[in-house]
Amino acid sequence: MSSLLDQIEPLKQAALSELRAAPDLAVLEQSRVNFLGANGKFTALMKQLGTLPKEEKPLAGKAINTAKAELEAALTERRAELELKAALPKDPTDFTLPGRRRVLGKLHPLTQVTEDIVRSFRKIGFVVADGPEIEDEYHCFDALNTPADHPARDLQDTFYVQTRMAAFPASPASTEARRFSLLLRTHTSSVQIRVMEKQQPPIRIIVPGRVYRRDNADATHNPTFHQVEGLYVDRNVTVGDLKGTVEFVFKELMGSETKIRFRPHYFSYTEPSFEIDFSSPLTRRMGKEWLEIAGCGMVHPQVFENVGYDPETWTGWAFGFGIERIAMIRYGINDIRLFYENDLRFLKQF
Ligand code: DAH
Repeated sequence: MSSLLDQIEPLKQAALSELRAAPDLAVLEQSRVNFLGANGKFTALMKQLGTLPKEEKPLAGKAINTAKAELEAALTERRAELELKAALPKDPTDFTLPGRRRVLGKLHPLTQVTEDIVRSFRKIGFVVADGPEIEDEYHCFDALNTPADHPARDLQDTFYVQTRMAAFPASPASTEARRFSLLLRTHTSSVQIRVMEKQQPPIRIIVPGRVYRRDNADATHNPTFHQVEGLYVDRNVTVGDLKGTVEFVFKELMGSETKIRFRPHYFSYTEPSFEIDFSSPLTRRMGKEWLEIAGCGMVHPQVFENVGYDPETWTGWAFGFGIERIAMIRYGINDIRLFYENDLRFLKQF
């Protein structure tokens, strides 16, 4: 057997050429294990060091350590080269390839319908107004001439917010107290009052927004839904203006074949009041000639009094309708809950 010293150099050379030739990181690791691992050939050589006579140890030890350092340097160098190679693209980059496209999201169908409604009204000079969803009882009911015994004012029908009514023990029915009684608004009509309190006529607003009622969810009800309110105040405003406006917007929304009709109804904040029905290929698709779609009327003089407008000078009309209902008829949707489930299979269809 050749002496230990004689074995070092050839083994080192073999190891170096193998490490340097490793084509990838896996093969490099295999070579490292072969030579420098716990059972590697070079490690075996180091273990033999202990069997040498004492006087040969320093020389052989030094030679082995030098060789080992060389191997480790070669290993580190090759690893860096291979890591860089692995990180680079396999094929040269083709700069003529088309860019990657990301799928764009879409607006929710209720947002689309709302934007269409707003766009139509803007064409005839209406602007969007806004008001709080947590409203007080005064703006939601009293100012709209809605009597205290109206069912919407019942604790069972509306979400009231616990407030410190104890501050008004003497007169819980006073206007002052009603301004401190908070609830989730049951309709967007409260914004009529908020706008008229802040500005003088003429007024031409629409108010899209979220409203709340204590209904159980079913195919046609949901405790949260959306409405659009409209309010027009000027001199000499007539029911004819109201009907013409509604007809214009509904033809835009539901197609030029749309017809509308007014039926007498009761709302406490309008007089006279009407319900609006419409008829179109869309209603016939749902098996009906006429479908009820909105409430409206001429603004009640008492409402003008409540906001400080002179009812002898000012006239106006107002309307309100549900956005979900419009969207359901327009797209032939039979369950309102689909709008709120965020199921992509549904949403992708719009
Ligand atoms: N606020 C009514 C509702 O929620 C809708 C409505 C009816 C609004 C008549 C109006 C109106 O402005 O004049 O059912």
